[in-house]
Amino acid sequence: MSDPSIRPQSELTAGDFTAAQNPFALFAEWLAEATRSEPNDPNAMALATVDADGLPDVRMVLMKGYDEHGFVFYSHIASQKGRELADNPKAALLFHWKSLRRQVRIRGTVTPVTEAEADAYFATRPKQAQIGAWASRQSQPLESRFAFEQAIAKVAARHLVGEVPRPPGWSGWRITPSRIEFWHDRPFRLHDRIEFRRDTPDHPWTKTRLYP
Ligand SMILES: Cc1cc2nc3c(=O)[nH]c(=O)nc-3n(C[C@H](O)[C@H](O)[C@H](O)COP(=O)(O)O)c2cc1C
Repeated sequence: MSDPSIRPQSELTAGDFTAAQNPFALFAEWLAEATRSEPNDPNAMALATVDADGLPDVRMVLMKGYDEHGFVFYSHIASQKGRELADNPKAALLFHWKSLRRQVRIRGTVTPVTEAEADAYFATRPKQAQIGAWASRQSQPLESRFAFEQAIAKVAARHLVGEVPRPPGWSGWRITPSRIEFWHDRPFRLHDRIEFRRDTPDHPWTKTRLYP
């Protein structure tokens, strides 16, 4: 088998992303390309938090919105991640688009989204997912799949008609980045990396190229 690290450059590496000046504009470009290339969930990102002992924790979530203010995801506030974020509202995110051989690495502070934002997003979810959000006690021990199905059936029976309201405790968070790094694979591990940093969201970004 030939060494995959010596494959020719794909057309995706054409155009020098390291010249980018605005990390959100570059993120938008890369996400759009990932939406075309990835087989599923181009908006999936690893979310890293730390627990009260400082031990890191990581899991995948779906990014449901982003703009200059940050990257938004939704979950349960009583979940493991919700409790960790309540204790220490800082997080790191990682997008890895395998077929594009790219990653975007983000660090920042975390704030809850507004009630209105959470309501608006919850209303867009399929009814089964809304019912599931009521029935799941996310990250708590579950005795059996059957117990979960019973809980789902009970909630579904309460909402045979009409809209399902957002459950208390189901909400979203926004990670406001202080650092965003773009990484793109290059042959022989001579990868391209650029990092944008800012001290606070009011400061301008500074850009640095990093050794791979
Ligand atoms: C691709 C993918 C996307 C996911 N998206 C979400 C999400 O948006 N929100 C969520 O609460 N869990 C999501 N999950 C499940 C989480 O990874 C995790 O199992 C769950 O949130 C419980 O994590 P916690 O115990 O650390 O709170 C997703 C899992 C995968 C694999």
